[in-house]
Amino acid sequence: MKKNKNLKVSIVMGSQSDYKTMQLAEKTLKRIGVSVETQIISAHRTPKRMYDYALKAENNNIGVIIAGAGGSAHLPGMISALTSLPVLGVPIESKKLKGLDSLLSIAQMPKGIPVGTLAIGEDGAINAALLAASIIANENSSIKQKLKNWRSSQTKSVKKNPK
Ligand code: RP5
Repeated sequence: MKKNKNLKVSIVMGSQSDYKTMQLAEKTLKRIGVSVETQIISAHRTPKRMYDYALKAENNNIGVIIAGAGGSAHLPGMISALTSLPVLGVPIESKKLKGLDSLLSIAQMPKGIPVGTLAIGEDGAINAALLAASIIANENSSIKQKLKNWRSSQTKSVKKNPK
């Protein structure tokens, strides 16, 4: 297969209600200059959409998938079961269990089907984007440089003096 150096990151989420969190992943990737697409796909409510998406993902120029889901969060694991692309899971903070249910659903995958699980909520969404950018950067020197610049400006923004 021909190597494509301009792979994009695909962000999917189980519900419109997840976008409040997942938009931070989208914003972070855009800031670093990574091509990104975003859509709602539910493992439970739109299983056919999930199946079609995952099977076509590699041919659709996607390099990394970020999947956010809450509660009984099957989306990242089911997508990983259908593609060999790297899948990063973001546990959405659920109303009743504060996202512990989402975290355990996403992290406790059986061996053979991996999902890289991030922290619950906004921190997880931002770190998923940074991790996805790092993966894309392995084959894209311009993204690698932008990621280094992003890190460097973060470092500079941390003051020594707390007052
Ligand atoms: C999950 O159910 C979604 O990922 C969402 O976090 C959760 C609640 O969805 P809504 O009832 O808000 O649509 O599938």
